[in-house]
Amino acid sequence: MSFVTVDNVFQSYGTRPILERVSVEVKEGEFISIVGASGCGKSTFLRLLLAQETPSRGEIRVAGQPPAREPGLDRGVVFQKYSVFPHMTVRENVVAGESLRRPWGRFFGKEKVEARKRADETLARIGLDHVADAYPATLSGGMQQRLAIGQALAARPRILLLDEPFGALDPGTRLSMHDFLQDLRRDTGMTVFMVTHDLSEGFKLGDRVLVFDKPRWDPHDPNAYGATITYDFDARNGGIPYQTIEEDTHVLRPA
Ligand SMILES: Nc1ncnc2c1ncn2[C@@H]1O[C@H](COP(=O)(O)OP(=O)(O)OP(=O)(O)O)[C@@H](O)[C@H]1O
Ligand SMILES: [Mg+2]
Repeated sequence: MSFVTVDNVFQSYGTRPILERVSVEVKEGEFISIVGASGCGKSTFLRLLLAQETPSRGEIRVAGQPPAREPGLDRGVVFQKYSVFPHMTVRENVVAGESLRRPWGRFFGKEKVEARKRADETLARIGLDHVADAYPATLSGGMQQRLAIGQALAARPRILLLDEPFGALDPGTRLSMHDFLQDLRRDTGMTVFMVTHDLSEGFKLGDRVLVFDKPRWDPHDPNAYGATITYDFDARNGGIPYQTIEEDTHVLRPA
């Protein structure tokens, strides 16, 4: 059964189409990697899933419902950088990850104590319990990004959205982040959407790799058309394409 359903979604900014005819069905627990040229609308797609934006046309449903407009407890998000608060300790960052998604924004009294306890559980899970009282600036890049993921996980989301989460990390740290993410996913059964510029990372971590591209291209006006999902690769099966979404024969590309 489809958990996340994207049904014929279009998104434009002003008169400029960014995404067109995007449709995909994702089962709960699937890991979806997203690749595509810079500027083709991958982050826009994540913002739509996050309900930070509403599509110009089409519909997105999560567990059969339209995703709530308010930042919900069901979706957590991690960006490439700058997603942790430098003036808060590691523990406070994780507590903030949960409290920011609440309508009134803060915890008080007993609730605060419980939130700190949950934060410590999250920190143990991401291996940062020994630096709970440190400030992010004192952590390595890999630890900071693990903290950002911990912050997103604090509210136990069913969907984790990752926008090039490891892009700023060195290759060794990146590999250990892959192990971390794979363990986390095994433990939580979360549904993950991850944008990456690294194809091998996409195939290694993903169950499926979605390629965003522009099937229609006007050489005189490269912004005339939006991007869509042109391939949906089964990455569990050695990366054999099992579905070609677009069969548009009017594709015109620059030589
Ligand atoms: N709020 C906005 N208003 C107007 N244009 C926007 C807005 N957000 C994004 N765009 C434009 O939409 C296009 C798609 O942007 P998006 O950030 O989704 O691309 P991307 O695939 O994530 O690129 P990258 O790989 O570089 O991160 C870009 O041309 C961008 O300039
Ligand atoms: Mg982007």
